[in-house]
Amino acid sequence: MESEGIVYLNGRFVARGEARIDPEDRGFLFGDGVYEVLRVRASQPLFVDRHHARLTRSAGQCEIAQPFDRAGLEALARELVARNGISDGIVYLQITRGVASRAHVFPPPGTAPTVYAFARATVEDPELWARGVSAILLPDERWGRVDMKTVNLLPNVLAAEKARRAGAYEAILVREGVVTEGSHCNAWIVRQGVALTHPTGPHILAGVTRDTVLRAAARVGVTVEERPFTAEELLGADEVFLTGTTTGVLGVVQVDGTTVGDGRPGPVTRALDGGYRALVEEEVARARAAVAS
Ligand SMILES: Cc1ncc(COP(=O)(O)O)c(C=O)c1O
Repeated sequence: MESEGIVYLNGRFVARGEARIDPEDRGFLFGDGVYEVLRVRASQPLFVDRHHARLTRSAGQCEIAQPFDRAGLEALARELVARNGISDGIVYLQITRGVASRAHVFPPPGTAPTVYAFARATVEDPELWARGVSAILLPDERWGRVDMKTVNLLPNVLAAEKARRAGAYEAILVREGVVTEGSHCNAWIVRQGVALTHPTGPHILAGVTRDTVLRAAARVGVTVEERPFTAEELLGADEVFLTGTTTGVLGVVQVDGTTVGDGRPGPVTRALDGGYRALVEEEVARARAAVAS
């Protein structure tokens, strides 16, 4: 396995090849852990407030001790970005319920959580945003609390792999006829100029990008309705797009082989992509100014 990069494990920065996790870690045995993925742009970790709030919520709902305050999370992200010389990329952070002799019930009080984090460079292929991507529809086979960002991602993994094998970028998930979200991003449609996305609640992850796009929509004058929509509505939509930390705002131009609109990312998708990118640049400037002051 490649051993590049400096990662963070339980209070120490070590070469990835030297990071060791106990096989009785509950993250490994039970998927008993939570995680976050932050976007890094121009070496600035973005939207730290929102990621910290969601991490605290996910960990709290799982009763996992979350050791970071907001400043601590930002400091960790910055250190990983600096040590790995990242300009554009992501920071990944995972916290599990720690190491204990295998039993489903919680380990004894005082068991330390395992904290693992890394930073990685990502490269955007601008063609994806210019041309749009394809998606397939699949049944949403996940549990009923996907608002908690846990590492239990097996249904997402299986759905993403089915999409890949179908030559599609993403699997869009459908629960009782209603579109929830993608395997790794939030799903939106546009009908008669109005952007629709599933309301937050137990059946979707409240995406940080989704939230940023809601703010972008208000700026660029796009009306949004947070309401459930059906797979049928999606197949008849004028536009379909996805949002996520590693996805940005990405037009979907084909679903299950059916062309969406005129087969290109539509005007509302492009307006929201522009608005989102502007907010990202403002966040970069804000983060830089906060460090300088
Ligand atoms: C299932 C799911 N929905 C939505 C998202 C988008 O969330 P965010 O915009 O915070 O990256 C993700 C991102 O990982 C995800 O895994």
